[in-house]
Amino acid sequence: MRSVPNYHHSFFIFLILILFLAFSVSPNTLSATESLTISSNKTIISPSQIFELGFFNPASSSRWYLGIWYKIIPIRTYVWVANRDNPLSSSNGTLKISGNNLVIFDQSDRPVWSTNITGGDVRSPVAAELLDNGNFLLRDSNNRLLWQSFDFPTDTLLAEMKLGWDQKTGFNRILRSWKTTDDPSSGEFSTKLETSEFPEFYICSKESILYRSGPWNGMRFSSVPGTIQVDYMVYNFTASKEEVTYSYRINKTNLYSRLYLNSAGLLQRLTWFETTQSWKQLWYSPKDLCDNYKVCGNFGYCDSNSLPNCYCIKGFKPVNEQAWDLRDGSAGCMRKTRLSCDGRDGFTRLKRMKLPDTTATIVDREIGLKVCKERCLEDCNCTAFANADIRNGGSGCVIWTREILDMRNYAKGGQDLYVRLAAAELEDKRIKNEKIIGSSIGVSILLLLSFVIFHFWKRKQKRSITIQTPNVDQVRSQDSLINDVVVSRRGYTSKEKKSEYLELPLLELEALATATNNFSNDNKLGQGGFGIVYKGRLLDGKEIAVKRLSKMSSQGTDEFMNEVRLIAKLQHINLVRLLGCCVDKGEKMLIYEYLENLSLDSHLFG
Ligand SMILES: *[C@@H]1O[C@H](CO)[C@@H](O)[C@H](O)[C@H]1NC(C)=O
Ligand SMILES: *[C@@H]1O[C@H](CO)[C@@H](O)[C@H](O)[C@H]1NC(C)=O
Ligand SMILES: *[C@@H]1O[C@H](CO)[C@@H](O)[C@H](O)[C@H]1NC(C)=O
Ligand SMILES: *[C@@H]1O[C@H](CO)[C@@H](O)[C@H](O)[C@H]1NC(C)=O
Ligand SMILES: *[C@@H]1O[C@H](CO)[C@@H](O)[C@H](O)[C@H]1NC(C)=O
Ligand SMILES: *[C@@H]1O[C@H](CO)[C@@H](O)[C@H](O)[C@H]1NC(C)=O
Repeated sequence: MRSVPNYHHSFFIFLILILFLAFSVSPNTLSATESLTISSNKTIISPSQIFELGFFNPASSSRWYLGIWYKIIPIRTYVWVANRDNPLSSSNGTLKISGNNLVIFDQSDRPVWSTNITGGDVRSPVAAELLDNGNFLLRDSNNRLLWQSFDFPTDTLLAEMKLGWDQKTGFNRILRSWKTTDDPSSGEFSTKLETSEFPEFYICSKESILYRSGPWNGMRFSSVPGTIQVDYMVYNFTASKEEVTYSYRINKTNLYSRLYLNSAGLLQRLTWFETTQSWKQLWYSPKDLCDNYKVCGNFGYCDSNSLPNCYCIKGFKPVNEQAWDLRDGSAGCMRKTRLSCDGRDGFTRLKRMKLPDTTATIVDREIGLKVCKERCLEDCNCTAFANADIRNGGSGCVIWTREILDMRNYAKGGQDLYVRLAAAELEDKRIKNEKIIGSSIGVSILLLLSFVIFHFWKRKQKRSITIQTPNVDQVRSQDSLINDVVVSRRGYTSKEKKSEYLELPLLELEALATATNNFSNDNKLGQGGFGIVYKGRLLDGKEIAVKRLSKMSSQGTDEFMNEVRLIAKLQHINLVRLLGCCVDKGEKMLIYEYLENLSLDSHLFG
């Protein structure tokens, strides 16, 4: 009889042991004996409860996917989807380790997705684990990495994840958008790094290029001119024999930021704001017309702040004058004078440029601009050159060996580009005039007279332009967080007078909405026939007054921008200062400095 209680005793110990084991299994792993089913609602959670992996069905559809989302963020945000193109069609699915692979089985026990690892020791037990950086990985008992989700991005690049090439295996990690916001299947847009001599990334729609980032200039991509470097975002671009990759790290706890290619083809940097409990867009591309790939054709460059947008580089003329006049710049420009290619050619310097497409380039990081120029002159195919790295005053040499295309200029940032021209195109017009005067003695007096008159007229014009040139201080960027909230642009009236640069920041609606507490009534300063004026505070603490023009206004965007430029030019120290404007989602706004004890009304309500 004594053996019975003993039996019970050991049974209880056994039960407790089982329970203990069940609870001691860490929630961030899936062992070879466990499985994850839809019906159990079980998920895998990273150690610090930041990410969660499980099954989900977007918009309550009958399609089920295995995905990873932020556990720590209340708005459901998917960062990875396993079986995006092969959903489970019913809520009967299982994730488990089968052999060396992670496999999703459907209701008929058919695999719909697998990590597809071949080879390896099948007998060695493996386990899957979700890390706090969002990486889901598969390891064998010797702790060797067999597979990781970071190598198969969906539409999101998380910190520590790499975008780009493993040069040894020829394996490329790209971002591909969801089809729609509710459909994770592969959409038409992709973001991928190219492996030219001077790598850059493209945003593509199917096979055609929509946008080009420009090459990495040592600090950032050439098309991201004003990015503010903050010490808690550490960017890493690596181009070596082993890999061509881009990644970033966040050197700050409790900061969640991601690079996201949305289903409309917009690449965004989104950062979680605890205070507003929302994702804020702090950077995006493409931004404007000038970001459209090749919008001004070969040897043309785009200026977003003037109309028309397209200009030919000095020494070039439109290929198709008629189309050019109709503001279609895509045919591009051609040389007015052929290159002589005998050492007499020269160069024109373009400032603050996004460097041209790097498909046909030669890079030498060991030489400087001087030797670079000589190399270019020696190579008949060379059309342009620039520094390969802009840090510490510039270093390295990149040479373009074909037509140069997809360029734009910036108000700030960008870099110098030297474009090769025939000697005749570099001669000063005035010297030419003088030569003509010297040689034609017969009409010299007449010519001299007109020359003098011309110069007087020119000078007078120059003076009037100088008077117009505004004395605007450099407007500090409003961004104190991660990237360029403000896109600085430049405005000028004359195509010839490049001296007339004008800083005219264009602010994003998001930034203004944040600044004015979403245009709340509490922030209202007043109202007029044109719209409402709000008080606001930018992220850096600067107080502003935002004049939100009523949507009823029939004024078009071009007219609005022209008017803003005019106001900016007429600025006077006694007037309240215009800091920038905003044209976004049908809204038009003017942003003024906020002056506490000044009669704002007199300025704003006219
Ligand atoms: C799983 O979650 C769903 C919806 O939240 C609920 O209806 C269902 O009862 C849950 N199942 C289990 C086994 O907890
Ligand atoms: C899932 O499918 C299996 C195999 O057909 C079946 O045995 C099981 O009952 C199903 N489970 C649910 C929750 O439908
Ligand atoms: C795994 O291999 C199968 C068969 O070759 C293929 O259809 C499937 O797309 C692969 N899965 C992944 C995730 O690559
Ligand atoms: C950048 O990435 C490369 C390759 O992944 C790595 O070797 C290097 O240590 C990284 N540099 C920094 C500063 O993180
Ligand atoms: C990380 O941030 C700290 C201060 O927040 C800074 O001192 C350190 O240099 C940063 N590390 C890197 C690699 O940028
Ligand atoms: C110049 O370009 C042509 C055509 O692309 C090529 O055949 C030739 O080899 C190039 N010359 C040099 C010096 O690279």
